[in-house]
Amino acid sequence: MKIIDAVKNRRSIRKFQRKSIPEDIIRDLKNALIWAPSAGNLQARKFIFVFSHDVKSRLVAHALRQSFIADAPLTIVACTDSRIKEKYGERGVNLYTIQDVSASIMGMMLVAHEAGLGSVWIGAFDEAKVSDALNLPHNLTPVAIVPVGYPAESPSAPPRVSIQDAIEEV
Ligand SMILES: Cc1cc2nc3c(=O)[nH]c(=O)nc-3n(C[C@H](O)[C@H](O)[C@H](O)COP(=O)(O)O)c2cc1C
Repeated sequence: MKIIDAVKNRRSIRKFQRKSIPEDIIRDLKNALIWAPSAGNLQARKFIFVFSHDVKSRLVAHALRQSFIADAPLTIVACTDSRIKEKYGERGVNLYTIQDVSASIMGMMLVAHEAGLGSVWIGAFDEAKVSDALNLPHNLTPVAIVPVGYPAESPSAPPRVSIQDAIEEV
């Protein structure tokens, strides 16, 4: 699969088959997460792989009852790491670690797509409650939840703004 095709054809998937993900593909997802770029290569990010149905159900409760979080065989909770502050101060906390996590998620979603998996980036959840549910240490803040699994739907592409509207050349 060409990367540009993966970028264009990946869709947010919110319905999943009840089929588990093979270990070798899980390993590819993990590699995609850790090999993303990061500010100063500090890799100020952490990913919690949630397989437990009980924990996934608690995530649903703290994420506007988006039930597909629990339907996916794997749900990844992506966290920033505030210890980046030691090197980059407020800019590290407010900007870099969020970008570090985002870069990881995007690469992982494309690798998932290539493997025939679907995923969806979820931002609507209560950070404090998700932190509690996962017993996260103070330095970690959950900033995205990403359910991953084999798709049980094939949504059409939501529209994008034109290249002319999105991009300016100088
Ligand atoms: C930061 C961010 C937060 C999002 N939060 C949610 C969410 O809480 N629930 C949801 O169903 N989709 C969420 N999405 C997915 C978007 O709705 C989706 O990416 C967008 O509609 C474009 O569709 P596509 O991913 O199929 O191209 C989020 C995406 C991003 C990048």
